[in-house]
Amino acid sequence: MPQAPSSQPTAALARMPTASVRVLVGFGAVLLVSLVVLHRRPARTVVGGGPAPDPAARFLSLSKGANATIAADLRALTAGPHLAGTTAAAGAAARVLSRLRAAGLRTLTREYNPLLSYPGRASLALLRADRTLLAQLSLGEPADVGRRLVRPYHAYAPSGGAVAEAVFVNLGREEDYLTLERLGVSVRGRIAVAIRGGGYRGGVVQRAAERGAAAVLIAGHADGGVERGTVILGGPGDPLTPGWAATGRAERLGFDHKAVKRRFPAIPSMPVSGKTASAIIRTLGGPALPAEWQTGVGLPVDIGSVGPGPTLVNLTYQGDRKMAMIQDIFAIIKGYEEPDRYVILGNHRDAWTYGAVDPNSGTSALLDIARRLGIMLQSGWTPRRTIILCSWDAEEFGMIGSTEWVEENLEDLHSKAVAYLNVDCAVQGVGLFAGSTPQLDNLLVNVTRQVKDPDVEGKTVHDTWKKMSGGINIERLARTDSDFAPFLHHAGIPCVDLYYGKEFPGYHTALDSYHWMEKHGDPLFLRHVAITEIWGLLALRLADDPVLPFDYQTYASQLQEHANAFSAMMKNSKSVNMMNRFVDDLSDAAMEVLKEAKDLDVSDGYSLMRRRLLNNRLLLAERSFLQPDGLQGRGWFKHLLYSPPEDYESKLSFFPGVADAISRSSSSSAKERRAAVWHEMWKISRAIQRAANVLRGEFSHRSESLNSSVSVAP
Ligand SMILES: *[C@@H]1O[C@H](CO)[C@@H](O)[C@H](O)[C@H]1NC(C)=O
Ligand SMILES: *[C@@H]1O[C@H](CO)[C@@H](O)[C@H](O)[C@H]1NC(C)=O
Ligand SMILES: *[C@@H]1O[C@H](CO)[C@@H](O)[C@H](O)[C@H]1NC(C)=O
Ligand SMILES: *[C@@H]1O[C@H](CO)[C@@H](O)[C@H](O)[C@H]1NC(C)=O
Repeated sequence: MPQAPSSQPTAALARMPTASVRVLVGFGAVLLVSLVVLHRRPARTVVGGGPAPDPAARFLSLSKGANATIAADLRALTAGPHLAGTTAAAGAAARVLSRLRAAGLRTLTREYNPLLSYPGRASLALLRADRTLLAQLSLGEPADVGRRLVRPYHAYAPSGGAVAEAVFVNLGREEDYLTLERLGVSVRGRIAVAIRGGGYRGGVVQRAAERGAAAVLIAGHADGGVERGTVILGGPGDPLTPGWAATGRAERLGFDHKAVKRRFPAIPSMPVSGKTASAIIRTLGGPALPAEWQTGVGLPVDIGSVGPGPTLVNLTYQGDRKMAMIQDIFAIIKGYEEPDRYVILGNHRDAWTYGAVDPNSGTSALLDIARRLGIMLQSGWTPRRTIILCSWDAEEFGMIGSTEWVEENLEDLHSKAVAYLNVDCAVQGVGLFAGSTPQLDNLLVNVTRQVKDPDVEGKTVHDTWKKMSGGINIERLARTDSDFAPFLHHAGIPCVDLYYGKEFPGYHTALDSYHWMEKHGDPLFLRHVAITEIWGLLALRLADDPVLPFDYQTYASQLQEHANAFSAMMKNSKSVNMMNRFVDDLSDAAMEVLKEAKDLDVSDGYSLMRRRLLNNRLLLAERSFLQPDGLQGRGWFKHLLYSPPEDYESKLSFFPGVADAISRSSSSSAKERRAAVWHEMWKISRAIQRAANVLRGEFSHRSESLNSSVSVAP
């Protein structure tokens, strides 16, 4: 949308390119001073007086026609595949850069050289029990008609192979192996054939490997799509530079280093089409398929038995691991009052296939935010704090672009980042789904009241969100499947993650195309507009509100709920009682801060400074939940509340240290287990106390007298 021409002289100056501004500065001190003033606070002093227009209203007013530009950007971004580290990735990168520049924003790129992984030679055949060839099986993707895409594979799967009987393991979850055990079937020395849907595919491979399987095949659905994906283990980031950035000449660990080895599965694995999987499963003997597995299997044949054998499967795989160049792209809008406070919006750009859902629905939304902010800047608005738009590379291999950047800038982010707002698959269907750290819940909910529902006339997103089954349900971000992971789990920065729709059937397959989006995902591109508005309004509030819109009372209530849920799960309220007083103290501190913000004295020359001091405490409180040395045995994960648990199937989506203590203590005594859990609960309690102290901004001074009747041992 073209901006209506403004006759105001200040706005005209603000529109000038920097170079001409610099020339003008040469004309004299008076002009210089006025420029500085202009640069400092253009949004608050519109010439001729009168209040500056509300940036949120201005942002929303730019929605007209946005669906068309979003659609055009998505079409261009998804014209071809753009897998990270390949030459084909350059097209999408160029598009993003040129669109950010066209919006008038300052851009920046940062390159890294991580270890990536591509498919080499592979073969799959079915043999008779006497090892003669029964059939060659296809490892291709039926839905990739033009053969334009990278062959289906699992990034970082080791090269190797096996000639062995197959066992059908359903989804390959813990409970599926328990079922197999009951049937007397083991995968040891055999090839496990699973159907996608058993959680993180790296976890599926790891569980099979732990049981001695020789290799794993993971089947796609009957629609002909085959799900590519990473099977990297142990968290995000480049495997050779754990904890530091994979810059060109950085230190790199060797492949035999144990910190590197633990990142790769021990056995080869491949995704296969539903057709290929059923060709194998159809030949299996052994016990009949258990009744509970017969629903929702999604394969094109009725399968009868789980195996093993009598046929043999011959799998060979030669992967190609190599260092490749990846590129993160940034647009930076400097804040006028607090340029050293960062509100960061991010989405990844790299895709397994065309990426119309994953991730470029989010990219086109990000570009529309850039477009709108560019127009607002031209008309004289400047955010109070700095806004950074990020386009990450190599997320699909394990959040590599974002992780390397966070690792490289950790100190800066610790002291300056306000929040990180992530959108990956912006649109894959109907309905808002959101995750956040709890201090952002209220802001998120409030913002959805301002956004029109894309599917129901006359309603807001908030109206329809409220009516979803289970009501407004904000997820906590203990997943490691998108770029918020390094920001939250490693750096302790408050995060939001947004998406529209769930369970996209074409995930990581040839079906993730513009055609699908236009036909099924978002025919009018209005869900894209809704996500753009929510994302943009969140950023504007965080960047422009005088006092950061963080609510730590919500955080305290959430912690209380976690503690209660945990106590119910453990059937033990002792550890929860221990934690209560810390949570109560956080709640009190949060209330004091809210009150302080309300009473903030803005009457004198120090008011800006006082507000900044208050904001600093709000900014830093989340960092209190970090444990400097990290979780036990996996120190990269430092967040004590919302890092992912080590066990991919853990039922606990908070308190990861406690989850680890439970899953690791299966072989130890009840007493040892209690002690380990108790120690982890104490770590969390101390972190909560730190957060309360940070919010108050004072040294703790309440005396705690030791009550002799309190037990000191678990
Ligand atoms: C398995 O497949 C590989 C590659 O096609 C082949 O070299 C090998 O001989 C096969 N093994 C058997 C036992 O057929
Ligand atoms: C959200 O809205 C409620 C009700 O209008 C208000 O009390 C609260 O302060 C708002 N919170 C934030 C963070 O915007
Ligand atoms: C954008 O939305 C309008 C309705 O608001 C619709 O008529 C138009 O076709 C949409 N454009 C695209 C490209 O989907
Ligand atoms: C000490 O603890 C006991 C049992 O938990 C409690 O009944 C008592 O009130 C406590 N005393 C003080 C002074 O807090």
